[in-house]
Amino acid sequence: MLQQKMIDALNKQINEEMYSAYLYLSMSSWFESIGLKGFANWMKVQFQEEMEHAMKFYNYLLAQGAEIKLLAIEQPPNKWNSPLHALEDTLKHEQHITSRINELVDLSEELKDRATYNFLQWFIDEQVEEEANVREIIDNLKLINDNTNGLFLLDRELGTRQFQPQNAE
Ligand code: FEO
Repeated sequence: MLQQKMIDALNKQINEEMYSAYLYLSMSSWFESIGLKGFANWMKVQFQEEMEHAMKFYNYLLAQGAEIKLLAIEQPPNKWNSPLHALEDTLKHEQHITSRINELVDLSEELKDRATYNFLQWFIDEQVEEEANVREIIDNLKLINDNTNGLFLLDRELGTRQFQPQNAE
């Protein structure tokens, strides 16, 4: 059985993941609007992954017999100055999520909540991967530096990303 402090923190994390999904769907629509369909695809896959993260927290709370409280989702921005700006915002946001996950791990240790501590390990690995993926695109965009051919090739590469569902347990 989970302690109330942990139930509240995990419900808050559902909201953080849902906001992440909202943010990336908004970025996807912005990339569509400027004709970068590959970037739009990459962001849409990111949106799907975030929904999956939210559902992992949701299903974990249900499995523990805890009460779900869905909170209001903040409105994300819908315009960015450049692809680089959008990806830098993505990295900043992922770093924020990493710190939230770390705080949840700290809380699980403080409460001696072994089950939640174990559950959170997947997210620790996932955040390392997410930050690395975004950093790679940022590095590519910096190398390309406004070269249209380079942007076209990167867009084509990002268009190949596919959503690979995991078991949202
Ligand atoms: Fe669910 Fe991108 O962190």
